[in-house]
Amino acid sequence: MGECTVLVGAQWGDEGKGKVIDVLTENVQYIVRYQGGNNAGHTVVIDDNKYVLHLIPSGILREGKICVIGHGVVIDPSALIEEIEFLKTRNIEVRGRLKISDKAHVIFPYHMKIDELREAKRKKGKIGTTKKGIGPCYADKVSRVGIRIGDLFDKVYFEKRLIGNIAEKNIVIKDLYGFEEFSKDEILEKYSKYAEYLKEFICDTTLFLNDALKNGESILFEGAQGTFLDVDYGTYPYVTSSNATAGGACTGGGVGPSRIDRVVGVVKAYTTRVGEGPMPTEFDPTLMEKIREKGGEFGATTGRARRCGWFDSVLVKNSVEINGIDDVVITKLDVLDELETIKICVGYKYDGKIYKSIPAVPEFLDKCEPVYEEHPGWMENTSGAKSCDELPLAARKYLDRIRELISAPIMLVSVGKSRKQTLVYPVK
Ligand code: GDP
Ligand code: IMO
Ligand code: MG
Repeated sequence: MGECTVLVGAQWGDEGKGKVIDVLTENVQYIVRYQGGNNAGHTVVIDDNKYVLHLIPSGILREGKICVIGHGVVIDPSALIEEIEFLKTRNIEVRGRLKISDKAHVIFPYHMKIDELREAKRKKGKIGTTKKGIGPCYADKVSRVGIRIGDLFDKVYFEKRLIGNIAEKNIVIKDLYGFEEFSKDEILEKYSKYAEYLKEFICDTTLFLNDALKNGESILFEGAQGTFLDVDYGTYPYVTSSNATAGGACTGGGVGPSRIDRVVGVVKAYTTRVGEGPMPTEFDPTLMEKIREKGGEFGATTGRARRCGWFDSVLVKNSVEINGIDDVVITKLDVLDELETIKICVGYKYDGKIYKSIPAVPEFLDKCEPVYEEHPGWMENTSGAKSCDELPLAARKYLDRIRELISAPIMLVSVGKSRKQTLVYPVK
């Protein structure tokens, strides 16, 4: 049997999963996305070339690797085709290296419109979604009215499902939001063309992956978003609509829990969040600006400025438990190079009491005061370090303290965007 590793974001997304996937892909044959959609933006920098992947696993950038989009992913076919065509322009051949589950649900224009209109109508309580139609598409899936990629090939069935959906959605779109209705014929024609384009990639990916495992091939599952954006474990309702945590690899990727050998958590050396929702360790405006600039903290999908804050060990420790994380990769340590003092949140204070776990109600987390430890910064450039031994003592101490607080071993430390800027962390 081949080995299965699941890689997850341990915070609120954008931890640097794309870079880490690219590094780890060297040693695996198959890379699988199992949830989310093109709300994700995974950046990989190879030499001077930057690639942002939204739907296709980041493993596509390594020659000969096989990439799979599992049934747990929601697919906007037009965005997927655009990504395939973009990769072609960079001389990356997708044909023969990409498989798409016939059971993945399809995002339609009405999903995107409802996502946008619903957000616009919400004043307080806005989620700050990417407006890619993710929530409405997953809602249809769970309501059992969704349309799957495989359905697009049966014209009669597809049309029947579409008629039902459009009739229902148009009422909401016109009567509730006062927006123009969608036409069935236009969608039918467009999506039938998309299906023709994608036909060669589509298969039963569960069978495909289990066969690969039996042949001794190894699989890396590429989580999108992050643990606290997970619909079950996250800071609900300020979450995405899928299971971004490790369990999602089984429900959306096509292998059973007993096949998973290892879970790797990607952890940013500080905290970021894009969109609304509680974030106890958020910086004051001056520090926010400084770290945002230094870390390039602007959304890879929407270009929105990310909110930045101190490292929250309560959050990440919880994440280690939720996902069963075996090893951690710390990213973006270099972004903290110019800070005289660095804080780590070790608890939340509310009404005189200290809490060491995440409360269920977001308003409660909003009211919590973080309890901080202060550590001296290193005030030295770490981006050129070739091994962890070359890191300043204060940086090594910061990493050791994180490891201790989250109770998980660190495997790698990233000090820059490129593959080379990845350091093996000494086993402790
Ligand atoms: P993902 O969604 O988790 O894949 O992360 P994103 O790609 O959205 O955001 C991470 C950003 O940080 C990208 O621009 C990466 O190129 C960059 N990045 C990753 N690791 C490092 C690092 O160690 N140092 C610095 N300075 N940038 C990094
Ligand atoms: P990667 O994979 C960071 C956030 C949105 C919003 C919430 C719901 O690049 O880490 P949605 O469009 O999913 O309904 O939005 O989730 N969000 C992300 N934040 N990284 C992502 O992906 C995200 N995908 C969604 O900003 O707060
Ligand atoms: Mg991202």
